[in-house]
Amino acid sequence: MADKSCDCIKILFVCLGNICRSPTAEAVFKQCVIREGIDGWIFSDSAGTAAYHVGSAPDARSIAAGSNRGYDLSLLRARQVENQDLASFDYIVVMDRKNYADLINLDPSRAGKVRMMMACNRDVPDPYYGENDGFDYIIDLLEVACQELVLMLKEKHGEEFGS
Ligand code: 4NP
Repeated sequence: MADKSCDCIKILFVCLGNICRSPTAEAVFKQCVIREGIDGWIFSDSAGTAAYHVGSAPDARSIAAGSNRGYDLSLLRARQVENQDLASFDYIVVMDRKNYADLINLDPSRAGKVRMMMACNRDVPDPYYGENDGFDYIIDLLEVACQELVLMLKEKHGEEFGS
């Protein structure tokens, strides 16, 4: 995976707390990017709209569900979205409609960069207050959505990067 200073495509995944959905999306996406052979031209990160969990590792249930499916979330640490992110990232991929509204409010001039993780404006449901199976379910959703996102990126930017 390229680093943030690279001349590459930068993608930020955003949810509320940055301890459940967006770090899972980041981990799933990173594997997808490697599998599709485009890791040399992609930088990805995740953040939360709220500051509740800044500096924390992902929720233990997210780490466990990810680990069962081959994704290592354990080294990720939560951070809050900053205005600068809207300038420096090329795509801001949000998990639900509330995240979408919050990001647009932060900088309406960057609205064109903000998109929903799932097609047809569907939300990735927040598993935080639910049962453990909610954490497995979001991985099912994110695997499909990340594959779609990677295919879109290859179609849109493949020529720039010679693949
Ligand atoms: P996330 O889930 O937005 O997917 O990280 C949540 C994590 C924490 C809280 C809410 C949602 N919370 O209220 O602390």
